[in-house]
Amino acid sequence: MFNIAILGFGTVGQGTYEVLTQNASIIEKRVGDRINIKYILDLRDFPDHPYGDRVVHDYSVILNDPEIDLVAEMMGGSHPAYDFSKAALMEGKHVVTSNKEVVANFGVELLQIARENGVCYLFEASVGGGIPIIRPMINDLAQNRIISVSGILNGTTNYILTQMSEFGADFSETLKDAQAKGYAEANPAADIEGTDAARKIAILASLAYGKMIPVSMVHTEGITKITTADIEAAKSLGCAIKLIGHTCEIDGRIFIAVTPRLVSERDPLHGVCGVFNGISVDTDMLGRAMFYGRGAGKLPTASAVVADIIDAAMNGESATAPCSITSADAECVYPFEEYVCEVVYRFTDGSLKKVTEREADAFTGEGVGAVSRLRML
Ligand code: NDP
Ligand code: HSE
Repeated sequence: MFNIAILGFGTVGQGTYEVLTQNASIIEKRVGDRINIKYILDLRDFPDHPYGDRVVHDYSVILNDPEIDLVAEMMGGSHPAYDFSKAALMEGKHVVTSNKEVVANFGVELLQIARENGVCYLFEASVGGGIPIIRPMINDLAQNRIISVSGILNGTTNYILTQMSEFGADFSETLKDAQAKGYAEANPAADIEGTDAARKIAILASLAYGKMIPVSMVHTEGITKITTADIEAAKSLGCAIKLIGHTCEIDGRIFIAVTPRLVSERDPLHGVCGVFNGISVDTDMLGRAMFYGRGAGKLPTASAVVADIIDAAMNGESATAPCSITSADAECVYPFEEYVCEVVYRFTDGSLKKVTEREADAFTGEGVGAVSRLRML
């Protein structure tokens, strides 16, 4: 029996319970062992839940139980999630997580501690919800040089932009809807201001280029300034506005940013709508690979968490974890101001002008009354 503890019994934690119990026989057949949820740690009690008697509130019960093989952290936030994860790894327990905040902020250290203690630290659910992207980046694309990664990485904002575009929906109402559906972060500012996507593109950049860029160094713009008029202007150009995380190497440095972009209808990311995420990885040998699926939500995210639990149960220390990621400093990051792309200006009279970034600088200087400035992907 492979014993696990679930930390955080909210949307993803309860989804993980559902995947493990509903598909127990499929999972047992694959693993060759039974995965048993021995404890659930949460602030609340769940007296009516079938596993309500497994709920504990004191983490030391889990940490000090030698039968616990793995801790699945789905509490969110940096603390105590980081502290609990670190303690578990130091106790020789595997850790899997959906918490991109912890992976982006402390992943380098936690991977190192995992290696030192002969266990694994896995985070498939931290990017793209249920989409397999971390494992393919580590394993299947290992023989490729990654030219660039571009992705719609946040389900909440993609859901909002899609509802605004298709139904003229109101921003705040749609955000409430996304929260009710379990897509949004505990503090949804992280979604709409782009921080969540910044954490995710930092994680993908670490897999692509071996450097974890601090989130504070990721140029980040959210969707709060996007208006229905911008969306209609985009449509008139055959584009959709998407919040895009993008990373590539330029002159030996890593360009990394999260910005709203005009995505042409010829680009497969144009059709990625609602809570779905899409990630396009350009490589030197394979060319372009696309990853698509539900980027948030209870069962899709839990599916990725359970993939990691299975990997740890089957492969232990040699489960799929990146072998060397180091922390990046400011020197590694290509300045956002030097990045060149096409820009579309929208003016008060509704007219649009597409120019190159360099032309745009001169153009803005003329003070010709542009009301918005949107970058092309
Ligand atoms: P929820 O808020 O639904 O669940 C978190 C749970 O953890 C809550 O039950 C919360 O209790 C509990 N919790 C918080 N702090 C503690 C603590 N100190 N000790 C014990 N329990 C605690 O969040 P989600 O399930 O949506 O998200 C969990 C993580 O997964 C986050 O990192 C999120 O970013 C990530 N994620 C979420 C996705 C989604 O679609 N929801 C998708 C991909 C990743 P209480 O409610 O009482 O505070
Ligand atoms: N709040 C996140 C999103 C959850 O909307 O994409 C998935 O990471």
